[in-house]
Amino acid sequence: MVIVYESKTGFTKRYAEMLAAKTGLKAIPTKEISKIDKNEEIIFLGWMKVGRVQGLDKVRKYNVKAVCGSGTGRTAEPDTETVLARNNIGNIPFFYLRGGCLPLKQLKGLDKIMLSMFVKVLKNRKDKDEETEEAINHIVNGFDGVKEENLEPVIQWLKTNS
Ligand SMILES: Cc1cc2nc3c(=O)[nH]c(=O)nc-3n(C[C@H](O)[C@H](O)[C@H](O)COP(=O)(O)O)c2cc1C
Repeated sequence: MVIVYESKTGFTKRYAEMLAAKTGLKAIPTKEISKIDKNEEIIFLGWMKVGRVQGLDKVRKYNVKAVCGSGTGRTAEPDTETVLARNNIGNIPFFYLRGGCLPLKQLKGLDKIMLSMFVKVLKNRKDKDEETEEAINHIVNGFDGVKEENLEPVIQWLKTNS
């Protein structure tokens, strides 16, 4: 089993490295996927962009045994079932890992434009609940939700499946 990850700003990479340290498995970025034998079992970690696990399409023809998506939401948004369908994950186990984000000012290009639009939508909500306020604050000011304990379900799964 090998850990393969796709990370843009480093939060998912930290999870991959944490998982590698805890399990002794090797962690490699998707750009190095060609180094892996097609039969090798993979646990894939990718950052989430509008509900899509980034990098997943690059590893589909490999032997993917589990998928982890890292996003800023408290849980997989809008819900796990939608995420599974949107990413064609089928029966492969999926784990959501709360990642993090850089302050909006530090983002560039399309990502910055998309998140600025998203913040506007959230700010325009009439009855903003605490979770919406939290999302606005995290996107604008940045947030680090990477915690070792979030990997616990993944580690439990690995114990019985590798
Ligand atoms: C354009 C854009 C869209 C995003 N969409 C989602 C999303 O749908 N759900 C979510 O939880 N997080 C979303 N995020 C947040 C990232 O997935 C999150 O910050 C992730 O942990 C970043 O991982 P990385 O540092 O490895 O790139 C989005 C971020 C950007 C820039």
